Amino acid sequence: MAGLFITIEGVEGAGKSTQIQMLLKRLVGIGVPALVSKEPGGTPLGRELRTLLLSPHASGEKWCPESELLLFYADRAQHIATVIRPALEAGRLILVDRFEDSTRAYQGAQGIPEATMDKLGEVVLGRLRPHMTLVLDMEPAESLERVRVRNAAAGETFKETRFDNETLEFHTRVRKRFLAIAQRDSQRVALVPADRTPEEVHEAIWAHLTPLLRSSGHPVE
Ligand code: TYD
Repeated sequence: MAGLFITIEGVEGAGKSTQIQMLLKRLVGIGVPALVSKEPGGTPLGRELRTLLLSPHASGEKWCPESELLLFYADRAQHIATVIRPALEAGRLILVDRFEDSTRAYQGAQGIPEATMDKLGEVVLGRLRPHMTLVLDMEPAESLERVRVRNAAAGETFKETRFDNETLEFHTRVRKRFLAIAQRDSQRVALVPADRTPEEVHEAIWAHLTPLLRSSGHPVE
C-alpha cells in the first residue's frame, strides 16, 4: 500500500485536534497504519522551536515576520526529513495538524509575499505535497470564542498565545487566505464547514477521504 500524506488546516478553534483524534481512531479501527503529527513541533527539536515561536519571551522581544517565517520553515524541514518522509516510505498514512498552507495563510496575512514563500517552499518541500488537505472552515468570531473558553479553562498554565492574541481582523484575513487556497487548489484541498457537531464534521471529512483511501489500496467498507 502506498503512503498517504493528509494535512488538516483552519483557523484557531475550528476543531482540528478533535477531528484528528476521531479520524485517527476510525483509520486505526479499520486497519490503516496511520499516525498523527503536527506543526510546529512534530519533532523533539521542533518542539523547542514551537516554544520559541508561540510563547512570549521573557525579554519581551518579538520575532520580526521574516525570522518567524524562517523558524516555521526550519521546523518543517526537520519534520519532513525525520517524520513525514520516513512515514510515507514505510507505506503509512500520516495525518499532520497544520503544514504549508498555514504558512501561506498566517505569514501571508502578516504581509510576507507569496513569492518569498514560493522560494522557501521549494527549498523545504521540494516536490512533496499532501495527497489531500482538509480545511476546517468557520467564522473566526465563533472559533476564537471557542479558543477563549478553552484558554480560560487552562488558566495561567496556557502560554501558547502568539496568534490567539491577534485581532479578529487578522484571523478574518487568515480565513480568507485558506478559502482562496481551497479555491485555487481544489484538486488537493477539501473545504469542510466546521460550525457543526463534531460527528457531522467527522462524517464530512470521512466522505472526502474514502475515495482516496480506496484508490490507495486501503480497506474501506
Ligand atoms: P496550533 O497550536 O496547532 O494552533 P491551534 O491549536 O489553534 O490549531 O498552531 C500554532 C499556531 O501557529 C497557530 O496560531 C498557527 C500558527 N502557524 C503559523 O503561523 N504558521 C505556520 O506555518 C504554522 C504551521 C502554524
